[in-house]
Amino acid sequence: MKIAILFYSFSGNTKKACEFLKNRLSSKSIGVDLIELKLKEETASFLRQCLQAFLKKKPDLAEGGYNLEKYDCLIFSSPVWAFAIAPALRSCLVRIETLEKKRTVCFLTYGSGAGSGKALKELESIILDKGAQIIFSKNIAGNKTKDNTYLEKQFKPLLDIL
Ligand SMILES: Cc1cc2nc3c(=O)[nH]c(=O)nc-3n(C[C@H](O)[C@H](O)[C@H](O)COP(=O)(O)O)c2cc1C
Repeated sequence: MKIAILFYSFSGNTKKACEFLKNRLSSKSIGVDLIELKLKEETASFLRQCLQAFLKKKPDLAEGGYNLEKYDCLIFSSPVWAFAIAPALRSCLVRIETLEKKRTVCFLTYGSGAGSGKALKELESIILDKGAQIIFSKNIAGNKTKDNTYLEKQFKPLLDIL
């Protein structure tokens, strides 16, 4: 089994959770590639980040397309920004023509939790529209991503099925 974790992280919380997941899956002898999404032009302005996310913008990614064919399962992750997924993840998803019959996982990290349910539902719907099967979907508290016990509990159902 080969898994890719495609994620965007601005301040590191989502990255921590993705790295935890990679380590746990690797310990089960599952091959995992971490693919960090970067924007060509990153803005550090909170207002601009919110606007881009809220308006569902798809800014250019720093890298070209990804060959996802070789993976049996794809994991998509980003922070919640302005009740939505981060623009970099949206940009990545629009480039993927089909996810027909792919097993997928989605999880978002959040701050206050405002709009996190809405953001996760939207992510699920984008993935389902591309024909994928979602085997696990979850919102994770961003401020607990340094806590491995918390992460273990959140990801247990996923780790049990993979
Ligand atoms: C521009 C911006 C918008 C955000 N909007 C929300 C939001 O609508 N709801 C929420 O719960 N958290 C929101 N947050 C908090 C992040 O989702 C949270 O801190 C997340 O864990 C950050 O992940 P990262 O460290 O991987 O970038 C926002 C953070 C930023 C920077």
